[in-house]
Amino acid sequence: MKPRVVVTRNIPAESLELLTPHFDVDYRERSTPIPRRELLRRVKNARGLLCLLTERVNGELLDAAPELRIVSTFSVGLDHVDVPECTRRGVLVTHTPGVLTETCADFTWALILSVARRIVEGDRMMRAGKYKGWDPLMLLGADVHNKTLGILGFGRIGQAVARRAGGFDMRVLYSDVRQAPGAVERDLHATFVDTETLLKESDFVCLHTVLDQTTYHLLDERRLRMMKKTAYLINGARGPIIDEGALVKALKGGWIRGAALDVYENEPKMAAGLAALPNAVLIPHLASATLETRGSMGRLAAGSIADYLAFGRAPSNAVNPQVARSASAA
Ligand code: GLV
Repeated sequence: MKPRVVVTRNIPAESLELLTPHFDVDYRERSTPIPRRELLRRVKNARGLLCLLTERVNGELLDAAPELRIVSTFSVGLDHVDVPECTRRGVLVTHTPGVLTETCADFTWALILSVARRIVEGDRMMRAGKYKGWDPLMLLGADVHNKTLGILGFGRIGQAVARRAGGFDMRVLYSDVRQAPGAVERDLHATFVDTETLLKESDFVCLHTVLDQTTYHLLDERRLRMMKKTAYLINGARGPIIDEGALVKALKGGWIRGAALDVYENEPKMAAGLAALPNAVLIPHLASATLETRGSMGRLAAGSIADYLAFGRAPSNAVNPQVARSASAA
């Protein structure tokens, strides 16, 4: 009998083809998140789980899936997966780093330009038939070139965002738990500063940190008040890094000029009042959403399961590779 692999949602067809020759694939071909009870029922005899960032992989799920050997998430973010608990139970965890870096960095720039140059408001005006001809004072935005870009979280995506800033002649500041090597700083013309300095000096503050206990509500009322009144906040990382209620107050009260969000604190919901604010660009979590990148993510996510369960190879994108080492030693 082939081992069972559960796939919780629609994924690109070519990634499914990496699984079907080797496994009995329980494919839930739907575009809505799987209800929790259904997920717990379906993983019962599963050896592999291909899941998304909308599914919490915790002790409860692992209890329901005693035969599980690999969780492969179709995302780079891992905040929905209790990795230490998976490790304790000998379950390998893989994700999709690298393949979405450039696509997500492109998208951060789309957010920066949209909010600074009021692209979405202009589009709405045209569609509403409200454009009455060129007006020197209409929808005035802010220049992006020659400004200061602050990147909070200087990992793969943060650095790819910094690289693109060269084309806009910007000064680049970054903060992170550790300073990047000198060669990276020189290459990207980026200066390491503390978070407070970054917030006080940047015209565009872009979030690219992981979400964990140290970054939850990193942008709270106190820190939002540190930003320039003319600054913009861009979030392409995870919603709970910003206290969304405080952000609504900041946007309404003019503590900052605008925000562009791809992620939300209680996704897919938004904080009360956010949707009514013209100085917010609101996007439904699309940063990695290109045909090419979603294809690559799917192949990586499915290929990791095939590598591990069908070919006995430890995938290089595992975050707890010690699990694979002790499984092969056993
Ligand atoms: C998307 O947010 C991801 O983590 O890949």
